[in-house]
Amino acid sequence: MKHILHLKSSIQGATSHSLKLGNAIIEKVQDKYPGSTLEELDLVAIKIPHLTPEVLRAMFIPTDQLTEEEKSAISLSDELVKQLFAADIIVIGAPLINFTIHSALKAWIDHITRAGITFGYDENGPVGKVTGKKVYVAMSSGGVYAEGPGKANDFVAPYLKAFLGFLGMTDLTVFRADGLKVPGVKEHAMEKAINSIKID
Ligand SMILES: Cc1cc2nc3c(=O)[nH]c(=O)nc-3n(C[C@H](O)[C@H](O)[C@H](O)COP(=O)(O)O)c2cc1C
Repeated sequence: MKHILHLKSSIQGATSHSLKLGNAIIEKVQDKYPGSTLEELDLVAIKIPHLTPEVLRAMFIPTDQLTEEEKSAISLSDELVKQLFAADIIVIGAPLINFTIHSALKAWIDHITRAGITFGYDENGPVGKVTGKKVYVAMSSGGVYAEGPGKANDFVAPYLKAFLGFLGMTDLTVFRADGLKVPGVKEHAMEKAINSIKID
């Protein structure tokens, strides 16, 4: 039995392909781990804010010295970090928007990146502190980026692998629904993506 966190960041509502792919991943995770619990967070629906100077400042103040105002500024970040640590498996819906992730997903990353809490440094360099997690990324894109000419612009999967790895989430698998706008590819793209799901 696992605790699954599903992060969504599509701006296309119920027609979202990353949502459909994410849900298919979750179904297979639940088949493998019956009785798993699921927590869902739609980062677009909650209108996750960008980092502000107030939040950033509060991130670097020791907890016992925070004023009520600073505590309030940092409360969303604290909550998101707690939610992340509580999850065993994280499913991230990552629609491709203008060659990168949606800014709501980027804002989530900015809120959960906390010096001394989710990462630190020792004499050998950076140390990720969000360890022991399995991450599945449900990517969706109009074009094809895993191979062919689009590969030069394949920024989403490498970025998520690199940055979440920096935070300690090194066990990350990407499933792609790609070519969703490409005639001849789009007709089978979702089916192919769902069939590619393997839960290890
Ligand atoms: C504002 C916007 C920008 C997009 N930019 C790209 C892009 O740069 N490359 C691409 O292949 N597809 C792009 N697309 C297509 C999306 O990747 C595609 O619609 C995908 O299904 C989005 O995921 P979703 O269905 O979960 O929302 C874009 C779509 C939108 C709405």
